[in-house]
Amino acid sequence: MNRFLKFAAVVSAVLFTGTAASAQACPVDILDPFDLEAADIDSIYACMQAQMVAAYSKQGNKIGENYRNWTITASRPGVAGAHGERLLLTWANPIGAEQYLKYQEEGFEMPAGSVLAKESIKIHKKKKAAVVGPLFLMTKLQPGEAPETGDWRYDAIAPNGKQMKIKQSFCNDCHKGYEDSDYLAYPIEEVRLSN
Ligand code: HEC
Repeated sequence: MNRFLKFAAVVSAVLFTGTAASAQACPVDILDPFDLEAADIDSIYACMQAQMVAAYSKQGNKIGENYRNWTITASRPGVAGAHGERLLLTWANPIGAEQYLKYQEEGFEMPAGSVLAKESIKIHKKKKAAVVGPLFLMTKLQPGEAPETGDWRYDAIAPNGKQMKIKQSFCNDCHKGYEDSDYLAYPIEEVRLSN
């Protein structure tokens, strides 16, 4: 996409969804995320998707602007429990997509330069609405660059578009439980793509 088109896309996303202060409301009746059926999740995602891109790209973050051009890794968002019971949907960049989509359990390492971007949606119990959560990121560094995290770097973009201050150990303490699959936990089984 050239720069003008990208700009136009962002502007139209903002026009359709309003500014941060008046983000489109996506009301939800079922407030426990584990009780949501596939169809409920589909309609929540349909309501939220433009809003998420607008939020993550607000400060010009390159990944926030581009991750939707990457490969989707599940049929819809899933509720895994981890990540604050949010609805989670991961996108994989061109370097990482092929390997990630195998959902391989052991005996591999993701190529350096792989990036996974995970959208998150929170069911806000007081507002009775879906709201944008952080875009969670994992980037595979060069071999030996960060041995304590399996050469992964963890980041997150807040819904205001700013990079969040992330403690590597906070993310890694949980992700290292998935060491056999190179620290990857993968989407819940019911939303994995068959390949
Ligand atoms: C309590 C455990 C836990 C913590 C803490 C945690 N994660 Fe995760 N993470 C998971 C699980 C489980 C999944 C897979 C569930 C899903 O995506 O549906 C996951 C998936 C991901 C993915 C998609 C790649 C994959 O593993 O399949 C990214 C990116 C990610 N997490 C980033 C982060 C970042 C950044 C942090 C810290 C801010 C973090 N995670 C903290 C458990 C955790």
